[in-house]
Amino acid sequence: MTDVTPSTAVVLVAAGSGTRLGERMPKAFVRLGDRTILEHAVDRVLGMTDPVQLIVVVPAQELARARELVERRTGRVRELATVIAGGSSRQASVAAGLAALGPTVRTVLVHDAARALTPSEQLDAVARAAATASVVPGLPVTDTIKRIAEDVVLETVDRSELLAVQTPQGFPRDVLVDAYASAQEEYTDDAAVVAAAGHDVHGVPGDPLAFKITTPWDLQRAERLVAGPPASSLRTGIGVDVHAFSPDVPLWLGGLHWPDEPGLAGHSDGDAIAHAICDAVLSAAGLGDIGSRFGTADPGYAGARGEVFLRETVRLVTGAGYSIVSVAVQVVSQRPKLSKRRAEVEAVLEGIVGAPVSVAGTTTDGLGFPGRGEGLTAIASALVERLPGR
Ligand code: CTP
Ligand code: MG
Repeated sequence: MTDVTPSTAVVLVAAGSGTRLGERMPKAFVRLGDRTILEHAVDRVLGMTDPVQLIVVVPAQELARARELVERRTGRVRELATVIAGGSSRQASVAAGLAALGPTVRTVLVHDAARALTPSEQLDAVARAAATASVVPGLPVTDTIKRIAEDVVLETVDRSELLAVQTPQGFPRDVLVDAYASAQEEYTDDAAVVAAAGHDVHGVPGDPLAFKITTPWDLQRAERLVAGPPASSLRTGIGVDVHAFSPDVPLWLGGLHWPDEPGLAGHSDGDAIAHAICDAVLSAAGLGDIGSRFGTADPGYAGARGEVFLRETVRLVTGAGYSIVSVAVQVVSQRPKLSKRRAEVEAVLEGIVGAPVSVAGTTTDGLGFPGRGEGLTAIASALVERLPGR
């Protein structure tokens, strides 16, 4: 110990063998994500608001390895951490931990390393409550509980009277040390040792993340929790296309011919909706843009219908391992009036793209080149999904 004088100690018991987990090594050393169960538990103790004395209790044959792990996690606060050998029962391991309490400690938390994901906030909350009373955190029981003899149901237990208890459990130091000194039998938790010595113990709220890793199923659940949600396979893309009106050519827009409307000038047919969708879909799949993919000067595409670019775009993104989830387009122009043929445009585009396409129109309130009727802008967004295994 140095000049740091913590008033709280956490006895972290990790000396069990982990028989039910069945990993052929003591449970504390089993990996959970990028570190061991023990390191997860230590990290959460180190995350507590105030510095505490940390007493880690491990199997005697694992002392050296445990010291190395704990030193690695504790860094500059390592002077507050002690690693000692446990006993053949949990109670014996806790007793060994209590023997290492520092002189300034007034409140003791006893915590299972197997409850490795217990949040630091829960440790803080129990520490606060334990400054004045013996406390055991727990969650309400949600299953219906039956009392049985052999396989015969005797009665349904009133679950409103039940608490599924967890650790850390917290106690005034003297209460806990005296109770352990006078314990005559093995109890399953520290609150029972303290209650057997005649002290009141109070229930306080538990935390679902304080569940105990006991079986392989528990470990899987913990692994999912530390891994977080799976990385999304969804990608968004955006595309914009602008063409000037040209009264000399027919209007092709959204894959449809629009009679009696001024057309759009361009190397191809000027179908700004189709081109904006191509750009959006290519950008979502990270495949560049329509210009770099198809070459604006390529004579092969001279006068080509928007449909040609769309079909080729769908082929490219599918080949790169993506499927198109949906597309939305907005046309910014005074004309043509899209609302009249919107369903028709959407049906044609959906047939080519193979996914829902929504088309909307707006104006610029007479402002700028769209307002002057000089040209038309189409803005598209696309959502694509990377196919599994690609
Ligand atoms: N524990 C301990 N000393 C023991 C037995 C258990 O320090 N002799 C600790 C465990 O390391 C664990 C906590 O008490 O953090 C709760 O025990 P449990 O979940 O039963 O762990 P194990 O005893 O390791 O597992 P099993 O009962 O499946 O062997
Ligand atoms: Mg056990």
